[in-house]
Amino acid sequence: MTEHQYSFRYLRFASASELPEDEQKLLEQAFEASKNAYAPYSGFNVGAAVALADGTCWTGNNQENGAYPSGLCAERTALFALGAAGKATLIRKIAVRAFSNQFTLDTPAGPCGACRQVMLEYEKISNSEWVILLQGERGDILKIQGVASQLLPFSFDLNQLSENSSSIE
Ligand code: THU
Repeated sequence: MTEHQYSFRYLRFASASELPEDEQKLLEQAFEASKNAYAPYSGFNVGAAVALADGTCWTGNNQENGAYPSGLCAERTALFALGAAGKATLIRKIAVRAFSNQFTLDTPAGPCGACRQVMLEYEKISNSEWVILLQGERGDILKIQGVASQLLPFSFDLNQLSENSSSIE
């Protein structure tokens, strides 16, 4: 038996003013996007703002549906729109904000597992380490650098389908 430890590095900011200007703006754009969420069932409104290498910003928000599993999270709504537009390789940063209709959300909402899996693959094809910013309606901001290195250990990788793949360490 050998024991291993996974360690996770992130930064926590008490105020957005401690972040570079482009990241402050991205957090604001994510909050603006959350206002267009369609979340009548959960009352939990999420917005994602994605910064591209060409200086543009794309946004998405959660879109729920009366057939519950047909809905989609904010992160994937934004990322798939970028994929559909042929721009996924340009993604560099993503900010995610959320607010609830029922209470004040003062802690960041972590991306769900499915969104992390999609973020991982798009990060890989963008050939860069993404900056991920998370914040609720207000309160602390978490800043993470790298989906692959920090957000999704032991992730599924297409290479694992082939015989000579490298194994998990
Ligand atoms: N949601 C997101 O948009 N992103 C996440 O990463 C987690 C959850 C949405 C899905 C659903 O519409 C609502 O939040 C409550 O789960």
